Amino acid sequence: MNIETLQSLFLQRFGGEGVLYTSPGRINLIGEHTDYNGGFVFPGAIDKGIYACIALNGTDRVRAYSADYDEFCEFGLREEDKPAEAWARYIFGVCREIQKRGYAVQGFDTCFYGDVPLGAGMSSSAALESTFAFALNDLLALGIDKFELARIGQSTEHNYCGVKCGIMDQFASLFGKAGHLMRLNCATMEYEYFPFNPKGYKVVLLDTVVKHELASSAYNKRRESCENACRHIAARHPEVQYLSDADMAMLEEVRDEISDEDFLRAEYVIGEKQRVLDVCEALERGDYETVGEKMYGTHHGMSKLYEVSCEELDFLNDVAKECGVTGSRVMGGGFGGCTINLVKEELYDTFIATAKELFTARFHHSPKIYDVIISDGSRKI
Ligand code: GLA
Repeated sequence: MNIETLQSLFLQRFGGEGVLYTSPGRINLIGEHTDYNGGFVFPGAIDKGIYACIALNGTDRVRAYSADYDEFCEFGLREEDKPAEAWARYIFGVCREIQKRGYAVQGFDTCFYGDVPLGAGMSSSAALESTFAFALNDLLALGIDKFELARIGQSTEHNYCGVKCGIMDQFASLFGKAGHLMRLNCATMEYEYFPFNPKGYKVVLLDTVVKHELASSAYNKRRESCENACRHIAARHPEVQYLSDADMAMLEEVRDEISDEDFLRAEYVIGEKQRVLDVCEALERGDYETVGEKMYGTHHGMSKLYEVSCEELDFLNDVAKECGVTGSRVMGGGFGGCTINLVKEELYDTFIATAKELFTARFHHSPKIYDVIISDGSRKI
């Protein structure tokens, strides 16, 4: 599929021309599960995204065709019109969230496809939400700023898809800039672009191609643990609004008041906050060894304290370590998906070959390999 085919699909199905929009998936160098804790994240948009052809249709109904699933869905714009198809709920949710903010949404026709691998931790769902939020804002001249468009995508996840996610994925998709990572403070929404072109290194994703069941409920449970730990700390330290505002000493004070599980989750989040800051500093010095060391630190925390890794991801992380890869860790929410790896160019081929061979011998399917190209955010094509 490409955008020319998409346009002819649109013409065949709806007769006429639509406008093309795209929004990308994302990587995250470091700062995982910190967004909903008011911490820092460090993502960048990638060269894989969702592409949609859209035109207003003069009715109050949406007619949507998913080229990837070869499925068509038509729905209205009232709360009770929620479609049964999971993919259509993202589009419906975006429309509803725009309406809830006081804007009028009109019916439209759309065909879309994507090349962000599903369930790989590269945020295909945020790419879908951002595409439609950005497109409707533009087509209907609503004048909503990009922060609010990101919140519209996030509320779609919360209210229509059952994931109590943070703001990182939608932010990265909408604000992405080629060649740059973004450090976002999720408490204040202040952000900064960092040029990212690690000379002599490559960034590569190794996709386990597994996505474990119940990932959304496990994700929501992590969030509850963090909020619980934060409540206990805030009772003694009212200045603590988010868990990321706390330090280890504060967490120690409430050790006996919270479960061991909640303690471990909070310990990870507090450690991760410092790792993001250390990585940003190291990047400014061109010190990739430190960047890599912190990435391994994150993997360890996500695996042993936050417990969102899995056998396949831990295996890939071990292989990276044994091959001498500079940095490696599970990326995104976890429970399957990818590792992100910072690898010296001269080691790249050996690493990929070894990882493929060992992984396939162990799990009987090959991992998928994606070279990372940091690209622009949401746009009209
Ligand atoms: C998912 C969520 C994000 C973020 C990451 C973990 O991608 O959508 O908000 O919490 O997990 O960092």
